[in-house]
This record gives sequence, structure tokens and C-alpha cells, in this order.
Amino acid sequence: MGTKWKVLVTETVGETGLDILKKAEDVELTEAYSLSADDLKKYIADVDGILTRSGTTMDAETIDAGKSLKVIGRAGVGVDNINIPAASRKGIIVINAPSGNTIAATELTFGCMLSVVRMIPQACASLQRCEWNRNKFTGCQLNGKRLLIIGLGRIGGNIAVRARAFGMEVIAYDPYITQKRADNLRVELVHSLEDGLSTADIVTVHTPLTKETKNMLNEDMLRVFKPGAYLINCARGGIVDEKAVTDALREGRLTAFGTDVYSSEPLTHDHPFLADDIKDRIVITPHIGANTHEAQSEVSRIAVENMLAVLRNQPYEHAVNL
Ligand code: NAD
Ligand code: MLT
Repeated sequence: MGTKWKVLVTETVGETGLDILKKAEDVELTEAYSLSADDLKKYIADVDGILTRSGTTMDAETIDAGKSLKVIGRAGVGVDNINIPAASRKGIIVINAPSGNTIAATELTFGCMLSVVRMIPQACASLQRCEWNRNKFTGCQLNGKRLLIIGLGRIGGNIAVRARAFGMEVIAYDPYITQKRADNLRVELVHSLEDGLSTADIVTVHTPLTKETKNMLNEDMLRVFKPGAYLINCARGGIVDEKAVTDALREGRLTAFGTDVYSSEPLTHDHPFLADDIKDRIVITPHIGANTHEAQSEVSRIAVENMLAVLRNQPYEHAVNL
């Protein structure tokens, strides 16, 4: 009998990837969801590969517990839940699926943007209480507004294209892209974050969470915003300082804030974003940016195919380390 690779799946992933694993004759599949950190260490002990989304913390200790671990598959983009240096030290390859959920995240960001400027969730909740309050829900148009995109990568670029279709003036802050990319997207690049923040009506964040971007939008930066601006974060929790943003909302420095991501997920009852006094000006969703059938199918396929290629010693793509 040939080799059987033991693969552990710890979160709900698209059926496409799961089916590939189920049908593979050289794979012994275990699905174990919502594991505690201790249980994860037990499950991971003898597996060759693990497939996760953002809800599984792959810290150095957990990676160390994977005595036979060869590959970590991430059915999504962000790898901030994985200790990459710890994996690299052990020769474990980390694979992600960088483009599979770009459109899903882009579209959710636009949903969030329209929700905050037009108060759509609040208007819906109000009508569901049988209130008929048209005047309260008078928002602003996207057309003619100046949009700052922080991070002009895959999602940021797709935001730019759609924002121009909405008649917005698009500027971006991203010190790592070429002027040519900005020109191709017909976006004006600003050379300091402050320059962008001080002139934008709406700011949307699309960077990874790194040492550099952690708390990038902190108390000081939030004071640079144009008074009454809107802020959207559908990238990663922790890029926006959560306490500072609620202060800015309370003081009216921000008109409204929309976010899909949090510094600690899931939210607890005492999270500042759940406070009653700001609920009319905040739109929150439970990290659903990538949750379309199309995106989940694609990211699971990309992650699984490349994980199996690593195990089978075949050419693979999308390794973020080694
Ligand atoms: P990407 O790598 O294509 O683009 C990120 C961009 O950020 C790059 O252009 C990079 O140069 C830029 N950047 C890095 N550091 C920066 C800094 N300090 N200042 C300004 N720009 C900086 O990534 P992407 O696929 O566009 O994803 C963007 C973010 O969205 C990631 O954090 C990803 O995890 C997140 N995401 C969230 C969801 C969701 O479910 N809400 C879904 C998909 C992706
Ligand atoms: C990602 O980085 O791909 C997103 O946060 C989506 C996810 O984790 O499913």
C-alpha cells in the first residue's frame, strides 16, 4: 500500500477543496472544528498537513506540536494567524490562496461603504421595528467623494476600479507599489499617509496586518482625518486602533465606521464596537469578506491542490515562505 498523507481540516472550507481531499486515495482526512488550543496540539501531533482559515491560531507552540507536519494550507489570503518564522525554522511550507477571494472581499467592502454612507443596516433595523423614519436616514453620495485606499494590492486595486465607476476621485497610499501600477489604475498616489488622510472623505484599508501596519490608524492618525470622514476596515483587525476609533465616533471626528474584522475574533459582549451610543454610526459584520460560494470554492481548491503538491513532492505555487 502507498503512502497515506494525514491531513487535518480545522475550519469550514469550501466543498471543492474538501472533495479533492475526500477523493484523494493517498489522503487520510480528519475534520475537527472549533478545537481548543490544547486539543489542536493533540490533533496536529501526527498529521502531515493542516488546512485552516483565519480562525485557527498556528503559533510557534502549535507548530512545534506537529511532529510530522510538512505543510500548512491557508484557505484565504492573510497569514497573520500563522507564525511563519516558526514554520520556516522547521522546514514547514505555508501555502495560501492569494487571489481566490479578492472579488468577494472587494464587493463586501463596497457593501460596507454603501452601508455606512447610507445607514442601510440601521434603516432596515428601524423599519423592522415598524418605524417609518425617512428623514433620519439621510446619508451622502459616493459620487464626487475623495476615496483614500490604503494598500493598493489585489483588493485595493479592485476597489479603485469600482470606485471610479461610482464617480469617486481615487487616491492611494502604498509605499510598496510602482507608480506604473497607480497610473494603470488611474489612481493618484500620495506619498505620506497624513497627506491622504487629511483630504479624503472616505478611507478604506486594504493592507496585511504586519508589524508596520499594526495600529497604523491610531489615535494620532485618527486626528489627522478630515472632520466628519468615514472609515472602512475590511482587511484585518488591529490595523485600526479600536478604542481610538470609538473615541473618534463619539467626538464626531468620524461620521461613521464600518468593519468586518477585529483585533480579537469572535467579538465578546464587552467589545467597544457593541456600545449602544455608537450603534447608529457603526456597521459591523462577522468577518464575512470572503464568504461567497465562489470565493470559498476557489480558495479551498487553490490551497488543497498546492498542499497536496507539496506532500506529493510535485511543483506547487503560493508558498509564502521557503
Ligand atoms: P495584497 O498583498 O494584494 O495587497 C496588500 C497591499 O498592501 C500591497 O500592495 C502592499 O504593498 C500594501 N501594503 C503593505 N504594507 C503597507 C503599509 N505599511 N502601508 C500601505 N500599504 C501597505 O493583499 P490583498 O489580497 O489585497 O488583501 C488585503 C487585506 O485584506 C489582507 O489583510 C487580507 O488578509 C485581507 N482580506 C480580508 C478578507 C475578509 O474576509 N475581510 C478577505 C480577503 C482578504
Ligand atoms: C483572508 O485573509 O483570506 C480573509 O480574512 C478570509 C478568511 O480568512 O476566510
